[in-house]
Amino acid sequence: MIMNKTIIEKWANIVTPFYYYDIDLLKQTVETAKKEADKRGYILHYATKANASPKILKIIFAAGFGADCVSGNEILRSVECGADPAHITFAGVGKTDTEISIGLDNDIFTFNCESIPEMENINRIAETKGKIANVSIRINPDVDARTHEYISTGKKENKFGISAWDFEKVIEKLKALRNLKLISLHFHVGSQITDMSVFAEACSRMNSFNQWFKEQGFELEHINVGGGLGIDYQTPDKNPVPDFAAYFAIFEQNLKLYQGQKLHFEPGRSIVAQCGSLISRVLYVKEGKTKDFVIVDAGMSDLIRPALYHAHHHIENLSSYGVERIYDVVGPICESSDCFDKDVPLAETKRGDFIALRSAGAYGEVMASQYNLRAIPGAVFSDEIFTD
Ligand code: LLP
Repeated sequence: MIMNKTIIEKWANIVTPFYYYDIDLLKQTVETAKKEADKRGYILHYATKANASPKILKIIFAAGFGADCVSGNEILRSVECGADPAHITFAGVGKTDTEISIGLDNDIFTFNCESIPEMENINRIAETKGKIANVSIRINPDVDARTHEYISTGKKENKFGISAWDFEKVIEKLKALRNLKLISLHFHVGSQITDMSVFAEACSRMNSFNQWFKEQGFELEHINVGGGLGIDYQTPDKNPVPDFAAYFAIFEQNLKLYQGQKLHFEPGRSIVAQCGSLISRVLYVKEGKTKDFVIVDAGMSDLIRPALYHAHHHIENLSSYGVERIYDVVGPICESSDCFDKDVPLAETKRGDFIALRSAGAYGEVMASQYNLRAIPGAVFSDEIFTD
């Protein structure tokens, strides 16, 4: 992320807070991920939920990614932005009838099914349309992702996926559900995973499930291992592009694919997190009893991750370069959880300074709300402010 004085001058008349996206970094990340995947014959579906800005989606889909969607609207937006429906996966424990219809009408690649009642419903709707729906079984592999509990999805107590003890029932059902075709097994064990042994463990579970399905006569053409690769929130400038080669190598080493089986991934955060920052201005510096508060014009309605997951986003004062002091950086919203971070070292800060909350490109803008009737933050793209 190039954050120099020239950029800040361009921001003078832009209403804060806003999301700022470094398009060069996005393109570099997209190209690296795609190149490393292509080398190994892996197929990428971008997890649209991480950032659904049309401009960002167009760049990602133009590079040849498919889409991983979790709502009917994400399917429609992805198609509008250039995703090939034949490369769209549709996940989620609670797909509505309308959303299932959207998937079927667009002839998407596959529905990642999370329960038997959901399979029955997809089958029913497909039958009314005279279609065969490709389905994957989202497996709950009972693997601890060792990440925040709210973004951990692969333990048996989580609501996601179908557990191994239900596989026989699933197979029985599939024989009866004539409008479904099982084409793949899928898992997604969690997000912001930095311990690569988690993926290795999930692969070893997948190997036994893959073998079991083969023994039952299901030669599945696809295996989908979801997303989850973590990024460096502490020092984003050191690791602006995640190590996709090391990530894919874990699967190369640990996953046993049968002849002809294709491997799919659904990366979200690793593609878009580092290219985005939430930019705000300092409203007030308030003296506290033990330390001072920097009150910025962005709040938890603009970036909820610190309040919801105690997530760390590196904070920088882009306007001052002097001696550092320690501050709590807080937003204007009437909740004590509206605090971006405590004890943050920042150059002596004053009203009007630009403050950047880094690594906010994933699950930032998409999770913004209008709480307190605040406006939804705008978006500024690096390649658009330099065109004059
Ligand atoms: N595939 C499935 C089925 C998913 O549920 C997710 C994310 C992904 C792929 C993409 O995972 P990623 O590569 O981004 O880790 N709002 C939270 C993250 C929620 C992730 C939900 N599922 C956050 O701000 O950390």
